[in-house]
Amino acid sequence: CGIVGAIGYDETTEILLKGLERLEYRGYDSAGLYVNDQTGHDYLVKTVGKIAALRAAVDQQVNGQLGIAHTRWATHGQPSEANAHPQFSTSQRFYLVHNGVISNFTELKQQYLPTTDFVSQTDTEVLVQLVAKFVEQEQLSTLAALQKTLQLVNGSYALILVDRQQPDRLYVAKNKSPLLIGLGQQGNLVTSDALATYDLTDQYLELHDQEIAIVTAEQVQLMNLQGVSQVREAITINVTAGEVSKGAYPTFMLKEIDEQPAVMRRISQEYLTTSGQPQIEPKLLQTLAQADRLYFVAAGTSYHASLVGKRLFEKYTQIPAEVGVASEFGYHWPILSQQPVFIFLSQSGETADSRQVLIEAKRRHLPTLVITNVANSTLARESDYSLVLHAGPEIAVASTKAYTAQIAVEAVLAKALGEYLAIPAALAWDLQMQLSLAANGMATLVDDKQGWADLAANFLGASQDAFYLGRGIDYDVSLEAALKLKEISYVHTEGFAAGELKHGTIALIEQDVPVITFITERTTASHTRGNVQEVLARGAQVLVIASEACQQATDQIVLPELTPELMPLLTGVCGQLLAYYATLQRGLNVDQPRNLAKSVTVE
Ligand code: G6P
Repeated sequence: CGIVGAIGYDETTEILLKGLERLEYRGYDSAGLYVNDQTGHDYLVKTVGKIAALRAAVDQQVNGQLGIAHTRWATHGQPSEANAHPQFSTSQRFYLVHNGVISNFTELKQQYLPTTDFVSQTDTEVLVQLVAKFVEQEQLSTLAALQKTLQLVNGSYALILVDRQQPDRLYVAKNKSPLLIGLGQQGNLVTSDALATYDLTDQYLELHDQEIAIVTAEQVQLMNLQGVSQVREAITINVTAGEVSKGAYPTFMLKEIDEQPAVMRRISQEYLTTSGQPQIEPKLLQTLAQADRLYFVAAGTSYHASLVGKRLFEKYTQIPAEVGVASEFGYHWPILSQQPVFIFLSQSGETADSRQVLIEAKRRHLPTLVITNVANSTLARESDYSLVLHAGPEIAVASTKAYTAQIAVEAVLAKALGEYLAIPAALAWDLQMQLSLAANGMATLVDDKQGWADLAANFLGASQDAFYLGRGIDYDVSLEAALKLKEISYVHTEGFAAGELKHGTIALIEQDVPVITFITERTTASHTRGNVQEVLARGAQVLVIASEACQQATDQIVLPELTPELMPLLTGVCGQLLAYYATLQRGLNVDQPRNLAKSVTVE
């Protein structure tokens, strides 16, 4: 979900709409805005669907100096106008936008609001109705009512509240979900992501958990839930226009796929000296060197990049590693080793599932590192150490350049740590050369757009099912390539360990089902070839993507050889391009697939 608020500006409606358009990638099943001109006129509009629908519905004459807006990714209640934000109190005095989940909303309804007529199914409406009740029935001030409400709720929130009787201020609060206050020239802004307001300011105040702010056009008053005032310096967050526009590209996803060679070079420049030595903070290396086991925790594509990380670290540092899906790990902690170190991978640095594991790791006083694309993100701030990906903002919901950047940064760190531990494999590894070869290999792949479009049409054109197969590192990539294809094209796709297929799933292989196979691991290549024969014998259409050392004459794609654990930098891009063109050919929205959000700040 995304939140934007503005106060003190003349063009409030346009600021809100533009902000929502930039945040649309975070959630886009419904949207709404509320504007107040501070002289008694106000305006609320909500629509189902994309921000374009909201823009079309907004009366362009409407303006005001105060406004709040929201783009939603449904958690409680289906996408509908009633469930879209802003939510409002029965008295229509209070309006509120909210990201997060109020986990005890049912109890709060029963206990405090048994006679209130709720017009939505959202957890959010409880917040605004509670504030209204405490003001209207208990005569509390709006601030006191908000404080009281937030002390009652369990869960996560980033919210903006408007009281129609005080149209000179926004009440803002945060717990677990991200929220920033932008300090502008003409007024002030509130947003869940600096992308929304980057053209109006680069100065932001970060709200911490369980804090409230009162934001007027001139000033910001910061306090904790008990009302104790807090002092904070503004930070600079630079987002440049070029980074958040598609430029000449038809979609963000294609732009981000194309950027990958440049991202590899940037990571090389940022993290390696000119002679190829990794540059990593010595304290981080000392901490990692003491680990007897590394625990990688992540979600989605970042989880798949962590699988590759495990292989890199085990090979180059000789430290055993485990990988956990954040939403599972958090509720089923394994028996930890004596000296664990936690490594979180998160493109956004905001994923709630990963954050709850981080919070528990910190509670247990375990060392934590976050590898993220967003330097000022919640996870980056809250972990002991952080490494940034330098991939530039990733806007398309399907993660592409962040995946390959995560693998490259993992490689840098594995080399640095391996050298620190004097592991021969790490000392002998020319990572600078490998990243350069990877960048060149990627450039060759992304240059052949017509070739990929043709392959996608031939292999994935008609089918509603597909399989990706591979062993070892190729299995890790199969999982990611399958996720890429299914999440944007809606083709039901499974990534499978090639050898495991015959133990059940081969029953699904029918005439013409596409099976895409990665073969880059020399030790298992002949076995995987055997699996290819098994599916061919059952009528599958097979596309083989092999490395030079494993190639055969019939293979459709042959990739240059890299360090085996870095082959996902190339095989991953193949999966991205196939998914991209299969989706485009189906006429679907590549950047904003249904039901998904870029950054999921609920557990
Ligand atoms: C969402 C996105 C995925 C992403 C996952 C983890 O589900 O749709 O593309 O991989 O979150 O996000 P993170 O920002 O933590 O990498």
